[in-house]
Amino acid sequence: MTVADPGIDAALEAMQRAYAPYSHFRVGAALVSRDGAVFMGCNVENSSYPAGICAERSALSAAVVAGAREFVRVVVATEATDPTPPCGLCRQALVEFAPDLEVISVTSDGKRAAWRLGNLLPAPFTPESLAHR
Ligand code: THU
Repeated sequence: MTVADPGIDAALEAMQRAYAPYSHFRVGAALVSRDGAVFMGCNVENSSYPAGICAERSALSAAVVAGAREFVRVVVATEATDPTPPCGLCRQALVEFAPDLEVISVTSDGKRAAWRLGNLLPAPFTPESLAHR
């Protein structure tokens, strides 16, 4: 990780720790807080398939329990042919904390893509959506 490009190495390292015996699709994530801390996550699958968790939400849980709530970037790392964006469930989980998050996706062979979370999830359900009479 360099200061200018945080989270890349951490996401690739986290991918190595993925527990993905069912899909064989290993994912690492690194969530970068506003103050520059990096929180790692990986997908953790389960024999009861829906009990598994994605790398991005795993990183989010690690960050929040460590006290971080403001994020500037998430990096996703896979071994896919092309960089993959976060799934819809993870987009929703991340938008709660960082509507303008920078989303980077890298592959183990060096391909890279970048988005803004607001573009990936243009009409999010937010805390304000809970307003009611
Ligand atoms: N997965 C992630 O960890 N993040 C994503 O953004 C997409 C999918 C995981 C879930 C499952 O363990 C495997 O990748 C295949 O879907």
